[in-house]
Amino acid sequence: MFFTSCSWWEFAAVLRISRSADIAALLVLFVFAFTGNIRVNGEDFDFQSVSGGHNSQRSDGTLFRFGGPSPLDIAIRRATRRQQVKPLGQAPEQRPELVALGQMLFFDRILSGNGDTSCATCHHPLFGTGDELALSVGTGPENPGALSLFRIKGVGRELIPRNAPELFNRGAPQWHSQFWDGRVAVDYNGFSSPAGELLPDGLDSVLAVQAMFPVTSRDEMRGTAADSGASFDYDGVTVVNNIAEFENGDLLAIWSALTARLLGIPEYRSLFAAAYDVADSDLESEIGFQHAAKAIAAFEVSAFSFSDSPWDRYLAGDNGALTTKQKQGALLFYEDAGCSKCHSGTLMTDQTHHNLLVPEIGAGKVPGMHSDPGVSLITGKASDDYCFRTPPLRNVTATGPWFHNGAYNNLRDVIRHHANPTRGFFAYDPEESLDQPELREAVDVSASKFSQMMLTFSWDVLPRRHIKRNEVDALEDFLHALAAPKLFQRMQRVIPENVPSGLPVDGQ
Ligand code: HEC
Ligand code: HEC
Repeated sequence: MFFTSCSWWEFAAVLRISRSADIAALLVLFVFAFTGNIRVNGEDFDFQSVSGGHNSQRSDGTLFRFGGPSPLDIAIRRATRRQQVKPLGQAPEQRPELVALGQMLFFDRILSGNGDTSCATCHHPLFGTGDELALSVGTGPENPGALSLFRIKGVGRELIPRNAPELFNRGAPQWHSQFWDGRVAVDYNGFSSPAGELLPDGLDSVLAVQAMFPVTSRDEMRGTAADSGASFDYDGVTVVNNIAEFENGDLLAIWSALTARLLGIPEYRSLFAAAYDVADSDLESEIGFQHAAKAIAAFEVSAFSFSDSPWDRYLAGDNGALTTKQKQGALLFYEDAGCSKCHSGTLMTDQTHHNLLVPEIGAGKVPGMHSDPGVSLITGKASDDYCFRTPPLRNVTATGPWFHNGAYNNLRDVIRHHANPTRGFFAYDPEESLDQPELREAVDVSASKFSQMMLTFSWDVLPRRHIKRNEVDALEDFLHALAAPKLFQRMQRVIPENVPSGLPVDGQ
């Protein structure tokens, strides 16, 4: 027999052979099958092994094949080549002095007005650079230092209206946008951002630009007007909130007060001096908050970049890196389930926005409206209502809850929602899907909300055909192949023991 492990027609179906050109190509393959190595789409395949090679499973479930790709491999490689999907390369090297400063800043609660919230509070390495919450708890919590579901919103405080996204691989050069609504982006004269003209010069990536903003947000880090001048004591370290007093738009005042706060701490002086090669006496004139932001970005890139997921190893040519089930999921992802229409390219995101009919949760982005119109808040276009930027998917198994508002705490439900958004919307079960009890009350899945959201629904999300239950399993298995090995252990190593302010370190 020509194929030992599958029939002609299965093989043809896997390869999606429909055109006569493909059939002709297959005949050529048939001829060469008896002569040894050939080239398929510019790549050497040992065709003998496709026809006669042996497949067996390793004990960890990955496929072990003597000599070459299976029909499934050929089909996946064909799809990924056509769609220009490449393995994620190594992240750009960051200067160690910059990373050292950025690491301290990322974990230091001194960046928040009240000294109770660090970047790591919401983007913790132990929680896949998120916080395990659908909607984050910002400054003024009941119990500073508590993380994940233990961090409880303070009386009179608001939850952050959106889910804290993961921060993996943001050093990849393809990135040109940040935030669920892309409000930080590369544009023709540098960067567009909520700061407009006020954005200082010298920022060199969207990631560094992004790091300018959490400190300016009252709910996330800065504190409310009522917090201004208040004094907080943590294990003998006193923080007086001197950044909550400024108007929301007075970004320059906020950034310079924070920089002065940092330069009041001797250890930060030496870290800034080393990172930017500036004499101590010149720090006040040379250093601004943009220097802190660049260092934070350098740390994020160096700590949260992983290019060795099974999928990246597979893309680099290792046919044994995925299990058969994961390969079936990969083929669905890139073909029939249509996932790669939006989760496209090497980063697995088109970095543009779509409306998936994700149920609205919580207070919303517009005060009093209980709604988050998403990208239209930035573009002013009604056609962008309820649209959010496609998230990248590396390590996605570690970054729940998922979607822009954390609507689902179960990855399977996320996939099923994509396969049938209307059903996802109406069958949404807040009790099941939300771990924060206070949010279960604040869900709008009414028919009127649905018809409003349908006006801008992204029809593109619908798969090419019905996705069966075992195919959802395969897709989920494929998403597991996007996770870097030993992620948790590797992430544990980036948590410092102490930070220069002397404030407690979250998760330490
Ligand atoms: C109180 C929780 C909270 C804190 C503290 C916080 N963030 Fe975030 N972060 C969020 C949320 C929520 C978003 C999404 C907001 C949006 O898209 O509108 C976000 C978005 C981001 C993004 C965008 C990622 C992307 O690809 O879109 C980055 C990067 C980031 N934060 C880094 C930081 C840094 C650096 C700090 C500290 C200076 C910080 N965050 C502090 C909650 C937080
Ligand atoms: C039409 C574009 C589009 C298609 C097609 C698509 N997605 Fe998505 N996906 C998105 C957008 C946009 C979001 C975020 C939506 C939101 O939060 O409102 C998302 C979110 C996700 C998330 C959650 C990630 C996170 O960090 O919260 C996962 C997982 C996911 N998609 C997997 C898939 C899979 C699997 C498929 C194929 C079955 C698929 N997507 C098809 C656009 C798409």
